[in-house]
Amino acid sequence: MKKKVLLMGASGSGKTSMRSLIFSNNPASLTARLGATIDVEQNHVRFLGDLILNLWDCGGQDAFMDSYLSTQRSTIFSHVGVMIYVFDIESRDRTKDMEYYRDCLNALNKYSSEARVFLLVHKMDLVRDRKSELERKRRELVKESTGIGVTVFGTSIYDESLYKAWSHIVHTLIPNAAVLSRHLTTLAEACSATEVILFERTTFLVIATSTSSPASSTPAASVPPLPSPPKSPPRSPTKSPTSPSFSPPQQEPEPEPEDGSDPHHLNPTRYECTSELIKAFKYSCARFLRQDFHSLEMELAEFTAVLDELTKNTYVMIVVHDPTIETAALRLNIRLARRKFE
Ligand code: GTP
Repeated sequence: MKKKVLLMGASGSGKTSMRSLIFSNNPASLTARLGATIDVEQNHVRFLGDLILNLWDCGGQDAFMDSYLSTQRSTIFSHVGVMIYVFDIESRDRTKDMEYYRDCLNALNKYSSEARVFLLVHKMDLVRDRKSELERKRRELVKESTGIGVTVFGTSIYDESLYKAWSHIVHTLIPNAAVLSRHLTTLAEACSATEVILFERTTFLVIATSTSSPASSTPAASVPPLPSPPKSPPRSPTKSPTSPSFSPPQQEPEPEPEDGSDPHHLNPTRYECTSELIKAFKYSCARFLRQDFHSLEMELAEFTAVLDELTKNTYVMIVVHDPTIETAALRLNIRLARRKFE
């Protein structure tokens, strides 16, 4: 399955930089060396095995923009699944930015009326009051996009916000995301886990999570809440690696607070922070140790986490708050769950 993704916006707004961070594993510090994109740079990115993102990075210089909107109009704007339009929050020519944006929206509406539109208000690291600046820009953009549903994110290549936006975008392109979430919930139950998160292997974008936890802010977790698995069958322990259980554990789970609040006070930005940290760690392993990254175990005072390969296109992370659960048991359950996800 192939999805055309248009990446558009003024020259210097940061399109190629974000593409290089997300899809080519380059660090933010190297983006200053990138040259301007000439015309359109097309890339095919294999995502989760079956899904191919056909990414069109459209150089934003005026001459190119004018050509996309005239002679190349139908080529650029036909068969688009998603348009991502990037706005530099510090742009010096906002009027021109808006004119091009409106023209692109009109062309998209004509040639791909079903396409989804995501607006990234980028370089947010350069503004002091992020929240109010983003809100101001969001209002302005929504007003300019009359009749078209748009989703606005504030992003920067220097923090996790870029992962949050891109995780949300690719999540909308994954056809079986709800099924993946259901399988993750089963795995979470089997491990007595607080939550289980699925990452795409190359980009480390979040694809799905086990539950839509109240603390979660990542839109990837906003799949409709899943029905709780049946509680009745006898439970087998997950604590020993000799008990290969892809079934719920014996131990009674900690009672959830009745008001539905999060008992572990999980950080709402934890998914995108994990993506960003693991990407940086992978980069360091490759560059400084000349080693490929495979898996990771963390045993902290409050929780344990195991990150391991699940399929050839994904990594899974299991987080448990029960100190009696061994990481070896979690790894075993990951191994047993593999065929469900392949
Ligand atoms: P064209 O190829 O001409 O369309 O430009 P582009 O939109 O691809 O811009 P590019 O990615 O080349 O980035 C231009 C400059 O912006 C580079 O020097 C980047 O380092 C810088 N940049 C990109 N993202 C950010 C960001 O989030 N914050 C800051 N401060 N600078 C950024």
